[in-house]
Amino acid sequence: MSDLKRTVLVTGASSGIGRAVARQLLEQGYQVIGSSRDISQFTSPQRRFTALELDLSQPASLEAAVRRLQLQFPALDAVVFAAGYGQFGAIEQFSVRQIEQLLQVNFTAQVLLTKALLPRLKRQPHANLIYIGSEAALKGSRNGSIYCASKFALRGFSQALRDECGKSPVRVSLINPGMVDTGFFETLNFAPGKQAGQALQAADVADAVSYILQAGNHCMIDEINLSPASKVIEFKK
Ligand SMILES: NC(=O)c1ccc[n+]([C@@H]2O[C@H](COP(=O)([O-])OP(=O)(O)OC[C@H]3O[C@@H](n4cnc5c(N)ncnc54)[C@H](OP(=O)(O)O)[C@@H]3O)[C@@H](O)[C@H]2O)c1
Repeated sequence: MSDLKRTVLVTGASSGIGRAVARQLLEQGYQVIGSSRDISQFTSPQRRFTALELDLSQPASLEAAVRRLQLQFPALDAVVFAAGYGQFGAIEQFSVRQIEQLLQVNFTAQVLLTKALLPRLKRQPHANLIYIGSEAALKGSRNGSIYCASKFALRGFSQALRDECGKSPVRVSLINPGMVDTGFFETLNFAPGKQAGQALQAADVADAVSYILQAGNHCMIDEINLSPASKVIEFKK
């Protein structure tokens, strides 16, 4: 597939992992549609880049957004689901609204987008759905009950979907990064250590996305787990 430049939707392309993925794919010659809740964040216009306003916390808007997108870009044949956020703390500290919102943005929205995208993706010669999970999809940890639940759910969904799509041209992959140095930690009371090797870079995750997109259709890349060389968490005062 490597010679064939494709059309890729990257959710959460305004920051961190999604931005690094969008940048790398543009450099490689792909057509990229990048989403954000606020497309004025995409300040430098790029050839082959289209900004899409999408708020994953609004489930009712997603199906129509996908319909419009697939009409505008009939060649769309890959999606990188990078939008999401973290919220951590003891379960008693979460309001019902906060629980619903975190599960909606990190899990349910990916399901609804997938459901809307799939019929046309199945008619492409080759298609990829690439979800950004987390190390939190592999192991539960203190203060991460809802975040881990959202990522475990995404992992179960992607495994089942891979099986469901096995006889179609759609390939389903999940990337589970450990801590990545991005804006993810801006609103949190912890962050990865600042020494070399204590955090992944967003470009490392973008490399994994490129590897998946360039693999042949015969090749299933189920999951890729990435970790920084040493795991150090620094708590903010
Ligand atoms: N950083 C890490 O250590 C790490 C590790 C493992 C997994 N992850 C996962 O990687 C993904 C990306 O995180 P990141 O590190 O790149 O964080 P980030 O720099 O904070 O970027 C998050 C992106 O998600 C978008 N987003 C947030 N809420 C949204 C909503 N309601 N609707 C639509 N878009 C929304 C943001 O777009 P706008 O604000 O412009 O709408 C932004 O582009 C998340 O799913 C996260 O769980 C991160």
